[in-house]
Amino acid sequence: MSDRVVNPEPAGTAGAVSPDAVVTATGEFAGLVAAVTGGASGIGAAITTRLQAAGARVAVLDREPAGAPEGAEPIRCDVSDDASVTAAVDAVIARFGRLDIVINNAGIGAQGSVEDNADDEWHRVFDVNVLGMVRVSRAALPHLRKSPSAAIVNTASIAATAGLPQRALYSATKGAVLSLTRAMAADHLREGIRVNAVNPGTADTPWVGRLLESATDPEAERAALNARQPHGRLVSPEEVAGAVAYLASPLSGSTTGIGLFVDGGMQELRLRPQQ
Ligand SMILES: NC(=O)c1ccc[n+]([C@@H]2O[C@H](COP(=O)([O-])OP(=O)(O)OC[C@H]3O[C@@H](n4cnc5c(N)ncnc54)[C@H](O)[C@@H]3O)[C@@H](O)[C@H]2O)c1
Repeated sequence: MSDRVVNPEPAGTAGAVSPDAVVTATGEFAGLVAAVTGGASGIGAAITTRLQAAGARVAVLDREPAGAPEGAEPIRCDVSDDASVTAAVDAVIARFGRLDIVINNAGIGAQGSVEDNADDEWHRVFDVNVLGMVRVSRAALPHLRKSPSAAIVNTASIAATAGLPQRALYSATKGAVLSLTRAMAADHLREGIRVNAVNPGTADTPWVGRLLESATDPEAERAALNARQPHGRLVSPEEVAGAVAYLASPLSGSTTGIGLFVDGGMQELRLRPQQ
């Protein structure tokens, strides 16, 4: 196969790839620029590395950008602050001159039932997990409209679709992310901008590491998290990144408005207990 990379048709065709397009397996993002929020750690860092490997130039928009993978452009950004978000998107344009792909991945956790968090905490977590995606998308849209293959991917969670104990607030934010994803996909389809979500199961990231450290019996807690997923282990950040790359890819022009599970079967399967 030739190395020549041909990107799909311009906006307005909803990213239709011409049948004679020649695309290398690893260079499908060549020429494209992505912004990954929360890209300095865990799932976001894996997404950054994956998109770079497939030819994208990537800006990491993170509250603490120091951990951004090598080769990425680290930009300090707090997604809960609109001025910070618009400045960060301006910085992406100043650095790269374009923006094609937005990965809304920054998020924070919350534990407890509805009785356990005061209004302020509900507002704080929604402000990051939901409004953060709104702010970044809003600032990016004028640039995405100019892209030949624009895509937004939002990181939701298994908590959006399965009832998990002690996760009322977190789950509510991720359910909102899924609904927002569908509504945005409808609003922007005819502008050539696809919007999808990824729904990871429990993933082996620094976030989950912190959760395990705070447990009274970290080993037992890890075993319980492993057992909750039918494939018996935590999801790797790289597995989530592979799904995000699929959703963001110029080759996925007919995929929009979906939530893609990367959860070892947790959402869809019902296995019998092992004998
Ligand atoms: N780890 C899991 O099990 C899991 C499962 C499903 C979904 N998710 C989702 O995946 C995403 C990433 O999670 P992770 O496990 O990689 O977490 P992580 O804590 O390892 O990384 C999160 C990153 O987001 C950044 N961030 C946090 N608040 C921010 C803000 N206000 N502005 C900008 N950046 C901010 C942090 O600095 C950090 O770099 C989150 O949206 C999370 O809800 C995680």
